[in-house]
This record gives sequence, structure tokens and C-alpha cells, in this order.
Amino acid sequence: MSTATLPVIDLKLFRAEPSDSPRVVQECRKAADALITYGALLLRDERVSEDDNSAFLDLIEDYFDQPTPSLKEDERPELGYQVGVTLENTEKPKCAVDEPCLNVIARLDPAERPLDITAHSPDPKCRFFWRMSEKPPYETQYPGLNAPNVIPRDEKLRARWETTMETWGTSMKNAVEGLAQMAAVGLGLPKETFTDAGRYGPHLLAPTASDLVKYGQKDTILAGFHTDLNFLTIHGRSRYPGLHIWARNTGKRIPVKFPPTGRYLLVQAGKQLEHLSGGLIKAGYHEVVVNDSTLQTIESRKVQYPDRPLIRISSTFFWHLSSDYDLAPIPTLAKRVQDLEKAAQDEDIAVYEPMKVGQQVQNELRHIALMA
Ligand SMILES: [Fe+2]
Repeated sequence: MSTATLPVIDLKLFRAEPSDSPRVVQECRKAADALITYGALLLRDERVSEDDNSAFLDLIEDYFDQPTPSLKEDERPELGYQVGVTLENTEKPKCAVDEPCLNVIARLDPAERPLDITAHSPDPKCRFFWRMSEKPPYETQYPGLNAPNVIPRDEKLRARWETTMETWGTSMKNAVEGLAQMAAVGLGLPKETFTDAGRYGPHLLAPTASDLVKYGQKDTILAGFHTDLNFLTIHGRSRYPGLHIWARNTGKRIPVKFPPTGRYLLVQAGKQLEHLSGGLIKAGYHEVVVNDSTLQTIESRKVQYPDRPLIRISSTFFWHLSSDYDLAPIPTLAKRVQDLEKAAQDEDIAVYEPMKVGQQVQNELRHIALMA
């Protein structure tokens, strides 16, 4: 099984026609059903440029190619690493320490399980968080989650940093917001339900970097099996394969492979969407590992681009709900949740306590050792 089997959703029709046109509603249902069944989908957005992704990947490779002391200047541990850089071996995969998550693995067919994370922690990956949020017009209870961005000191990086980050980040943000509206329509909700709830969210352009010279051996776990704590995560193409996702209602491990032409993005559901939908849509599990295709790509890039650093960059954007938003299951979705729970008796029934989104984020960050 590969991502060829994931539903492909096109934003074009939705952007061109009224959201109550039957063709649009049908495509929106397809989007919502994809999230319910797979927790993921491929999104086609004709506005997206492969060149912008490429410029972004070049920039982030160069950034992480800097010596560690330069990178360390960009760390902000006092803000829970929610802006700037997180260096390797800081973040623990939640699953390595989490009961329900280990049950999820135990229920998978052995052939479909992730690499064993029980002996692995923390992750050997670095990350940069570039905030792309709109300042709320009210006093937020969570100012630490809305802190100003970090710009690297190096002159050459500085010169192209902001434009490159903003250009690629805006493409992914627009695409994921379009999809969020389609998902709302597809669930029978007003179109702006999710985009209004996330208008002032602390959205993050969040590339991760894995040093493939140090961590390029087969079956190395670069990011252990986990779900994302935000609402929807969107990915551009990475130069190196290695991302596996799990389809919630099929139990299959899916190696992510983008269609050969650009303009495709991968969208995966996160914990906030799970919470808000009362579990109708579950956050999608994923891992990043060094597999055979990763090894092949390492070898071919060594030949084709001998001067470039061997660093795997993930082109990732985390779309969040606003920190002050009251997170609670949407009542009109409850009936569908009950039907699903009846069908999947062996799953742990999760309870979604009402709370502020900012509280949910802090709970999750404590879990993965990023916040004391
Ligand atoms: Fe993730």
C-alpha cells in the first residue's frame, strides 16, 4: 500500500464555486470522509509552487548545516521551544511513555507496526518553529504560545530568511485553511467553523532536520511513532522518503510518496481536530525512519549534489486552533461518533474534557518533555 491509495482532494472546485453547489458538497464530503477513514489525504492546490518548496528546503538545509553554537543561540527553552530551534535529542516520542498509544501499536498487525520505540528516546531530530499567527485583538491567556519569531544571526541566512519562510509558509497555510473549510462543509458544519476557531491560532511553519551522515543507517528512527497535538498538519514534499503514516480505520502503514508533479501536499489530522470532532476524526499516527528508499535517495543525492549537506528536511506546517478557544466536542457530530464506536469495539474509548486550547497544548508539551 502506498499514498497512491489516499484520496486526492482538489481545492480548485471549492475555490471556484459556491460552497453549496452539489459538486462542491460532494468533494467536501470526500475530504471529510478521508479524514475519518484515513486521518489523512493528499491535497492538490494549483497555487502551490514546487520552486518555493525547493528554496525553503535549501534554506533549512543551510541553516542546520551551521555549527551547534550558532544553532544554540536560537533556542528558547523558557518558551517551551515554541519559537526558534529545538536541537536533537530533546523531544521524546509521546508513545514511548504512553499507555493508550502502546495499545494502538499492540492492536496493529505485526507486519504493519512502527519500528520499536520502547528503547528509543528522545528523537534524533532538530526542528525550527517559525510562527505564522495573527495577533489576537483581545488579551490572550497564553502569551507564551504567541511569542515573537527568531531570525538567525548569520548574514547569508538572514538575507533570504524571512521572505523564504513567509512565501512557503503562506502557501501551506492557505492550502490547509482551504481544506479546513472543505472538511467543515463535508461534516455538515458552517464553512468557517474551523477557520474561525483557528483564526488567531499560533500556527507554525515547522521544518525538522535529520543529519543523515550521523543518523543515516537503515531502520534508524528519526521521529518515533506519534500523533501531532495541533489541528491539521500539512506537509510539502521532502527530498528524502521515510515518512510513514497509519490509516486509522484500516490499520495499514502507508509510506508517503507524492505524485511526480508538484502542487500536492499531504494533510494529516491532529489532536485538536480529534477533540473538537469528539473522536469522529482521530489524530493520525506517523513516524519518520530511514528505510530502503531513504538509503537509495541518500546515495543518489551524494552523486547529484556532492556539495549539499546530507540533511533530511521535512516541509511541515502545524495549523492550530486559537489558544483561547474553548475546545469541546461539537454536539451535532455526536451521533456519528457513537456509530463509529459501535463499529470499532476494540478501540479505547477516549474522553474529551472541555478545556481551553492553550491548556490542551500545554498538557501535550509536558508529555513530550518540551515544557517543565
Ligand atoms: Fe509529527
